Amino acid sequence: MDNSFCLEDVTILTDEQCGILYDMFNNLPLIADLTQADIFIDCLLNNQDAAIVVAEAKPCTTQSLYKNSVVGQIAYEDSEPGVLFSLKTGKPVIGSKGISQENVVMQQDIVPIKDSFHQTIAVLIKERDISQEILNEQKVKTLMNSKDNKEKDDVFQSVIVQEIHHRVKNNLQIITSLLRLQKRRCSSSSEAVEVLRDSISRISSMAIVHDYLAQHGIEKVDTKFVMEQISALLISLSNNQEKKFNVSVQGESLFLPSDITTSVVLVVNELVQNCIKHAFPDQQEGKIEINVNSRKQMAYITVKDNGQGLKEKRSDLKTSSLGLQLVEMLVEEKLQGDLSFFYSKRGTKVSLTFPISDKVM
Ligand SMILES: Nc1ncnc2c1ncn2[C@@H]1O[C@H](COP(=O)(O)OP(=O)(O)OP(=O)(O)O)[C@@H](O)[C@H]1O
Ligand SMILES: [Mg+2]
Repeated sequence: MDNSFCLEDVTILTDEQCGILYDMFNNLPLIADLTQADIFIDCLLNNQDAAIVVAEAKPCTTQSLYKNSVVGQIAYEDSEPGVLFSLKTGKPVIGSKGISQENVVMQQDIVPIKDSFHQTIAVLIKERDISQEILNEQKVKTLMNSKDNKEKDDVFQSVIVQEIHHRVKNNLQIITSLLRLQKRRCSSSSEAVEVLRDSISRISSMAIVHDYLAQHGIEKVDTKFVMEQISALLISLSNNQEKKFNVSVQGESLFLPSDITTSVVLVVNELVQNCIKHAFPDQQEGKIEINVNSRKQMAYITVKDNGQGLKEKRSDLKTSSLGLQLVEMLVEEKLQGDLSFFYSKRGTKVSLTFPISDKVM
């Protein structure tokens, strides 16, 4: 729940009616995530000629239409005729298009919320950004009218490719937001929280590569740039108030094909996760350094921490875990590369070397 309001103060609803709405407040974030839209609940004010926003939830699965909270704002007949209509008649208003407070084209759907006597006590409002859809519709219209085959091809490509990217991104976001929800519900089991966090970071790392491709529209990805984004994400996910991690990415830009980048990024994701999880059991602060370099046809990537160091040789480390096995499989099978571990009391360094002869731009 992003925000909510004390209903008894502003409406003439009975305790039972308020209870129905308070129960709904808890589910608003879930509805917002699932529908990828901003969700609000509005009630009629005491004097019946305006409504007030009493609760809201912003989606985690897409960008919200609003920068600031609108809870407590008053909606008048002039500005929100659909909301007042639905509140007064108990009928839904679906599919109206409008401009949001932040000037984005959006679609608004409104459904009444009723009590056990079918009396309308509030409305549930969904607002979704449709600017990209409108743009695509316009492009398709241009396409239909164009006589130029080359232009037709270009427009078709850009609309279709964008739509596919959009869908893949949405799907990945929905998966991670569902896992985040599960993580919140498992807070009593630290093992479950950890497993879910690892899955979220693995999927999010792939989503970052995907997003890069969608935005830059090129085949080769700047691996260093992507790693910077992933390190920021891992730090925010590790979300540990007692410990402070500092992750830095050094070296040079390294342009690699997207499938190779995905493997490299997954390897680095596991290694950084390991630093966060295992390197600093008794330390308040930890430094993690990623280095990206290439020389002639070889790429060199290292992940180094200044923690307690690996306690055992790689061959003696536990084999029941997934992390390092995944790393070794990716390095051997996807990158045809080599992995070495450096042992020291002042930290762990893992270095990854792989050939890039025909892969660099
Ligand atoms: N940077 C590190 N510092 C200290 N110990 C480490 C470090 N990286 C790995 N280890 C040790 O190696 C073990 C194996 O790592 P691995 O990634 O395979 O498993 P995990 O992290 O325990 O579980 P998973 O990755 O499957 O969630 C860890 O349990 C830990 O004891
Ligand atoms: Mg691990």
